[in-house]
Amino acid sequence: MTKIGYIVGSLSSTSINRRLAKALERLAASAQVELTEIRIDELPFYSPDFDADYPQVARDFKQAIADVDGVLLVTPEYSRSIPGYLKNALDWASRPWGQNSFTGKPTAVIGTSGGPISAAIAQQHLKSILTHFASPQLGQPEGFIQSTPGLFTEEGEVTDEETAGFLVGYLNAFVELIKRVNGSAASAA
Ligand SMILES: Cc1cc2nc3c(=O)[nH]c(=O)nc-3n(C[C@H](O)[C@H](O)[C@H](O)COP(=O)(O)O)c2cc1C
Repeated sequence: MTKIGYIVGSLSSTSINRRLAKALERLAASAQVELTEIRIDELPFYSPDFDADYPQVARDFKQAIADVDGVLLVTPEYSRSIPGYLKNALDWASRPWGQNSFTGKPTAVIGTSGGPISAAIAQQHLKSILTHFASPQLGQPEGFIQSTPGLFTEEGEVTDEETAGFLVGYLNAFVELIKRVNGSAASAA
Protein backbone atom coordinates (compact mmCIF):
# COMPACT_ATOMS: atom_id res chain seq x y z
CA MET A 1 0.00 0.00 0.00
CA THR A 2 1.42 3.36 -1.04
CA LYS A 3 1.45 5.97 1.73
CA ILE A 4 0.59 9.52 0.75
CA GLY A 5 0.48 12.44 3.15
CA TYR A 6 -1.69 15.38 2.24
CA ILE A 7 -1.36 19.01 3.27
CA VAL A 8 -4.35 21.34 3.11
CA GLY A 9 -3.47 24.96 2.34
CA SER A 10 -6.58 26.45 3.94
CA LEU A 11 -7.35 27.26 7.56
CA SER A 12 -11.01 27.93 6.83
CA SER A 13 -13.50 25.94 8.91
CA THR A 14 -15.64 25.63 5.77
CA SER A 15 -12.77 24.92 3.39
CA ILE A 16 -13.77 23.40 0.05
CA ASN A 17 -10.18 22.28 -0.38
CA ARG A 18 -10.44 20.30 2.83
CA ARG A 19 -13.60 18.73 1.42
CA LEU A 20 -11.68 17.87 -1.74
CA ALA A 21 -8.93 16.31 0.39
CA LYS A 22 -11.57 14.30 2.28
CA ALA A 23 -13.00 13.15 -1.06
CA LEU A 24 -9.55 12.01 -2.17
CA GLU A 25 -9.13 10.20 1.16
CA ARG A 26 -12.38 8.31 0.54
CA LEU A 27 -11.46 7.45 -3.03
CA ALA A 28 -7.93 6.39 -2.11
CA ALA A 29 -8.87 2.82 -1.24
CA SER A 30 -9.73 2.07 -4.88
CA ALA A 31 -6.25 3.27 -5.89
CA GLN A 32 -4.47 1.12 -3.24
CA VAL A 33 -3.43 4.25 -1.38
CA GLU A 34 -3.37 5.20 2.27
CA LEU A 35 -3.99 8.93 2.49
CA THR A 36 -3.38 10.72 5.79
CA GLU A 37 -3.19 14.39 6.67
CA ILE A 38 0.06 16.13 7.54
CA ARG A 39 -1.14 19.07 9.60
CA ILE A 40 0.47 22.49 9.40
CA ASP A 41 -1.85 24.52 11.64
CA GLU A 42 0.33 24.37 14.74
CA LEU A 43 3.54 25.55 13.10
CA PRO A 44 4.68 28.98 14.31
CA PHE A 45 6.03 31.48 11.79
CA TYR A 46 9.36 30.23 10.52
CA SER A 47 12.54 32.16 11.37
CA PRO A 48 16.18 31.17 10.71
CA ASP A 49 16.63 31.66 14.48
CA PHE A 50 15.06 28.20 14.83
CA ASP A 51 17.59 26.47 12.56
CA ALA A 52 20.00 25.63 15.37
CA ASP A 53 17.23 23.99 17.41
CA TYR A 54 14.00 23.19 15.56
CA PRO A 55 10.92 23.11 17.84
CA GLN A 56 9.29 19.71 18.31
CA VAL A 57 6.24 20.65 16.23
CA ALA A 58 8.49 21.39 13.27
CA ARG A 59 10.53 18.22 13.81
CA ASP A 60 7.27 16.24 13.84
CA PHE A 61 6.19 17.97 10.63
CA LYS A 62 9.45 17.08 8.87
CA GLN A 63 9.25 13.52 10.21
CA ALA A 64 5.69 13.17 8.90
CA ILE A 65 6.95 14.05 5.42
CA ALA A 66 9.83 11.58 5.77
CA ASP A 67 7.39 8.84 6.79
CA VAL A 68 5.31 8.91 3.59
CA ASP A 69 6.06 7.86 0.02
CA GLY A 70 4.70 11.07 -1.49
CA VAL A 71 3.01 14.34 -0.53
CA LEU A 72 -0.17 15.73 -2.04
CA LEU A 73 -0.72 19.48 -1.65
CA VAL A 74 -4.35 20.57 -1.74
CA THR A 75 -4.67 24.32 -1.78
CA PRO A 76 -6.79 27.33 -2.62
CA GLU A 77 -5.42 30.37 -4.41
CA TYR A 78 -4.92 33.59 -2.44
CA SER A 79 -4.07 36.78 -4.32
CA ARG A 80 -2.94 34.78 -7.35
CA SER A 81 -0.51 32.72 -5.28
CA ILE A 82 -0.50 30.21 -2.42
CA PRO A 83 -1.81 31.17 1.05
CA GLY A 84 0.91 32.45 3.41
CA TYR A 85 -0.07 29.67 5.82
CA LEU A 86 1.09 27.06 3.29
CA LYS A 87 4.21 29.00 2.32
CA ASN A 88 5.21 29.09 5.99
CA ALA A 89 4.96 25.29 6.18
CA LEU A 90 7.08 24.94 3.04
CA ASP A 91 9.72 27.21 4.57
CA TRP A 92 9.84 24.99 7.67
CA ALA A 93 10.15 21.89 5.48
CA SER A 94 12.98 23.43 3.47
CA ARG A 95 15.28 24.04 6.42
CA PRO A 96 17.72 23.62 8.16
CA TRP A 97 19.84 24.20 5.07
CA GLY A 98 20.76 20.95 3.36
CA GLN A 99 17.87 19.08 4.99
CA ASN A 100 14.97 19.99 2.73
CA SER A 101 12.20 17.46 3.40
CA PHE A 102 10.92 17.73 -0.17
CA THR A 103 14.19 16.97 -1.96
CA GLY A 104 13.57 13.73 -3.87
CA LYS A 105 10.09 13.40 -2.35
CA PRO A 106 7.39 12.88 -5.00
CA THR A 107 4.68 15.56 -4.87
CA ALA A 108 1.41 16.38 -6.58
CA VAL A 109 -0.60 19.59 -6.47
CA ILE A 110 -4.37 19.91 -6.66
CA GLY A 111 -6.90 22.55 -5.66
CA THR A 112 -10.38 23.82 -6.09
CA SER A 113 -12.05 27.19 -6.30
CA GLY A 114 -15.31 28.50 -7.63
CA GLY A 115 -13.45 30.45 -10.30
CA PRO A 116 -13.09 29.26 -13.89
CA ILE A 117 -9.30 28.85 -13.64
CA SER A 118 -9.57 26.86 -10.40
CA ALA A 119 -6.50 28.03 -8.46
CA ALA A 120 -4.27 27.40 -11.50
CA ILE A 121 -1.95 30.33 -10.80
CA ALA A 122 -1.41 29.25 -7.18
CA GLN A 123 -0.58 25.79 -8.46
CA GLN A 124 2.00 27.19 -10.87
CA HIS A 125 3.64 29.11 -8.03
CA LEU A 126 3.61 26.00 -5.86
CA LYS A 127 5.16 23.91 -8.63
CA SER A 128 7.87 26.50 -9.01
CA ILE A 129 8.71 26.21 -5.29
CA LEU A 130 8.70 22.41 -5.48
CA THR A 131 11.00 22.54 -8.53
CA HIS A 132 13.42 24.61 -6.48
CA PHE A 133 13.18 21.94 -3.78
CA ALA A 134 14.12 19.25 -6.37
CA SER A 135 10.90 17.37 -5.78
CA PRO A 136 9.81 14.99 -8.56
CA GLN A 137 6.31 16.26 -9.44
CA LEU A 138 3.20 14.93 -11.10
CA GLY A 139 2.89 16.78 -14.41
CA GLN A 140 -0.32 15.29 -15.73
CA PRO A 141 -3.17 15.26 -15.11
CA GLU A 142 -3.28 18.77 -13.72
CA GLY A 143 -5.44 19.23 -10.63
CA PHE A 144 -7.65 22.15 -11.57
CA ILE A 145 -11.04 21.42 -10.01
CA GLN A 146 -13.77 24.01 -10.48
CA SER A 147 -16.02 23.80 -7.48
CA THR A 148 -19.77 24.09 -7.68
CA PRO A 149 -22.09 24.19 -4.64
CA GLY A 150 -22.53 20.67 -3.27
CA LEU A 151 -19.84 19.05 -5.46
CA PHE A 152 -18.12 17.74 -2.32
CA THR A 153 -20.03 16.97 0.85
CA GLU A 154 -18.53 17.63 4.28
CA GLU A 155 -17.96 13.89 4.67
CA GLY A 156 -16.00 13.77 1.42
CA GLU A 157 -18.56 12.36 -0.95
CA VAL A 158 -18.27 13.47 -4.56
CA THR A 159 -21.70 14.14 -6.01
CA ASP A 160 -20.57 14.19 -9.65
CA GLU A 161 -19.45 10.89 -11.21
CA GLU A 162 -17.17 12.46 -13.79
CA THR A 163 -15.28 14.37 -11.09
CA ALA A 164 -14.98 11.23 -8.95
CA GLY A 165 -13.56 9.34 -11.95
CA PHE A 166 -11.09 12.13 -12.62
CA LEU A 167 -9.90 12.09 -8.99
CA VAL A 168 -9.33 8.31 -9.01
CA GLY A 169 -7.32 8.69 -12.24
CA TYR A 170 -5.38 11.55 -10.65
CA LEU A 171 -4.49 9.40 -7.61
CA ASN A 172 -3.48 6.49 -9.85
CA ALA A 173 -1.18 8.76 -11.85
CA PHE A 174 0.43 10.01 -8.63
CA VAL A 175 0.94 6.44 -7.39
CA GLU A 176 2.60 5.60 -10.73
CA LEU A 177 4.97 8.54 -10.29
CA ILE A 178 5.76 7.49 -6.71
CA LYS A 179 6.54 3.95 -7.84
CA ARG A 180 8.76 5.23 -10.64
CA VAL A 181 10.66 7.50 -8.28
CA ASN A 182 10.85 5.25 -5.23
CA GLY A 183 11.43 2.09 -7.22
CA SER A 184 8.51 0.06 -5.83
CA ALA A 185 5.21 0.34 -3.98
CA ALA A 186 7.05 -0.25 -0.70
CA SER A 187 6.31 2.30 1.95
CA ALA A 188 9.02 4.62 3.17
CA ALA A 189 7.99 3.96 6.77
C1 LIG B 1 -7.39 36.52 0.88
C2 LIG B 1 -8.06 35.78 -0.26
C3 LIG B 1 -7.54 35.90 -1.54
C4 LIG B 1 -8.12 35.18 -2.60
N1 LIG B 1 -7.56 35.26 -3.84
C5 LIG B 1 -8.02 34.45 -4.83
C6 LIG B 1 -7.35 34.37 -6.08
O1 LIG B 1 -6.38 35.05 -6.33
N2 LIG B 1 -7.86 33.52 -7.02
C7 LIG B 1 -8.96 32.73 -6.78
O2 LIG B 1 -9.36 31.94 -7.64
N3 LIG B 1 -9.61 32.79 -5.60
C8 LIG B 1 -9.16 33.63 -4.64
N4 LIG B 1 -9.79 33.66 -3.42
C9 LIG B 1 -10.97 32.83 -3.24
C10 LIG B 1 -10.61 31.47 -2.70
O3 LIG B 1 -9.85 30.74 -3.61
C11 LIG B 1 -11.90 30.76 -2.41
O4 LIG B 1 -12.49 31.48 -1.35
C12 LIG B 1 -11.73 29.32 -2.02
O5 LIG B 1 -12.98 28.81 -1.72
C13 LIG B 1 -10.90 29.17 -0.79
O6 LIG B 1 -10.71 27.81 -0.54
P1 LIG B 1 -11.08 27.17 0.86
O7 LIG B 1 -12.59 27.18 0.95
O8 LIG B 1 -10.53 25.79 0.77
O9 LIG B 1 -10.46 27.98 1.93
C14 LIG B 1 -9.25 34.37 -2.37
C15 LIG B 1 -9.78 34.29 -1.06
C16 LIG B 1 -9.18 34.96 -0.03
C17 LIG B 1 -9.74 34.82 1.37
